[in-house]
Amino acid sequence: MIFNSAKKEILKEIKEKGDIPFKRFMEICLYHPKYGYYRNVKKLGREGDFFTSAHLGTILGKVIAKVAENYFEDDETVQVVELGAGEGLLAKDFLDFFVGENIDKYSKITYHIVEGNQSVYKEIEKNLKEHSSKFIIYSSIEELPELPKAFIFSNEFFDAFPVHIVSKKKGILSELYIGYKDGMYVKRFKLPSKEVLKEVEELKIEVCEDCEFEVNSDIEAIYKLLSSKFNKIKMVTVDYGYGQEELYHPDRKNGTIMGYYKHKAYENVFQFEGEMDITSHVNFDALIHYGRKYGIESVYFKNQRTFLLDNGLFEVLKEGEELSLKDSFQLKTLLLPNSMGDIFKVLIQEK
Ligand SMILES: C[S@@+](CC[C@H](N)C(=O)[O-])C[C@H]1O[C@@H](n2cnc3c(N)ncnc32)[C@H](O)[C@@H]1O
Repeated sequence: MIFNSAKKEILKEIKEKGDIPFKRFMEICLYHPKYGYYRNVKKLGREGDFFTSAHLGTILGKVIAKVAENYFEDDETVQVVELGAGEGLLAKDFLDFFVGENIDKYSKITYHIVEGNQSVYKEIEKNLKEHSSKFIIYSSIEELPELPKAFIFSNEFFDAFPVHIVSKKKGILSELYIGYKDGMYVKRFKLPSKEVLKEVEELKIEVCEDCEFEVNSDIEAIYKLLSSKFNKIKMVTVDYGYGQEELYHPDRKNGTIMGYYKHKAYENVFQFEGEMDITSHVNFDALIHYGRKYGIESVYFKNQRTFLLDNGLFEVLKEGEELSLKDSFQLKTLLLPNSMGDIFKVLIQEK
């Protein structure tokens, strides 16, 4: 059988080390330096495997820009950081908003893009060609400069983190490890790692009996780093997920891991290794907890629809101005019940 390169790496690691935690499997699939999905994918949206709000129209980026405009009242510089910016589509909508609405503030903007996938940099440069003097690209948060004040935002950043899968049976927690036997992956639940136990204890995670759930053990490091870089922060996080009680509820007893490949969703993520996106729902209580731990307090947590209405959606959609077809479609997707506007949440935190 001929395997793709990411699968070869997975099998090599299993051969060398024995069963690997699911988190490591997901890490190789998404972030292996050569073969990971997010090291090779050049385009998302129609030509890729999935859409985000960024592909649907300009409205989300513009409303986020409006929040930033209010944050930097009379500041001499406007420092914006976008985490996991993908192809730079929200960055374009954000910067276009300032060109149209506040050219004085536009002249003060430095837009810091953090994007680990270097394959997408050409696309970022193409999308931001009219703003070429405004942005700087970094491949990790560590590379960002230290700044007195920053507006940080992200869309679908945290849902792309590799996670542990944990199960609770007869009151006992165990963690999913992946092995390989007779040409097939095998799942084995073993004693949970210390990272999992630390998260369960620190976040006081309570799960139902016979439930499987995901634990993201990389959130604390992100907040610690952001807090150490910037003295004052306003951070807007857009993603799909829930507070802990809802996330670890019996309604989601099989967890929330999903794969996306060529616009189809797959529950089985043990296929198309390195060619499929893998995601899980975000535990917003973890973002709130670790934010607070590093001095970044949560001030707002609502669904995306309410966020748009609360933050100037109708000012952005100017009276008498006709909406493009793309924007009217986005507006519908963001506002209608049971649509993206409900499932997606917006968390605002400040330091
Ligand atoms: C689901 S995509 C979302 C892209 C974009 N924000 C959008 O809305 O279309 C997640 C992005 O985050 C990037 N990413 C994930 N973890 C990262 C990290 N630790 N540092 C930098 N980029 C990261 C991935 O490479 C990917 O481009």
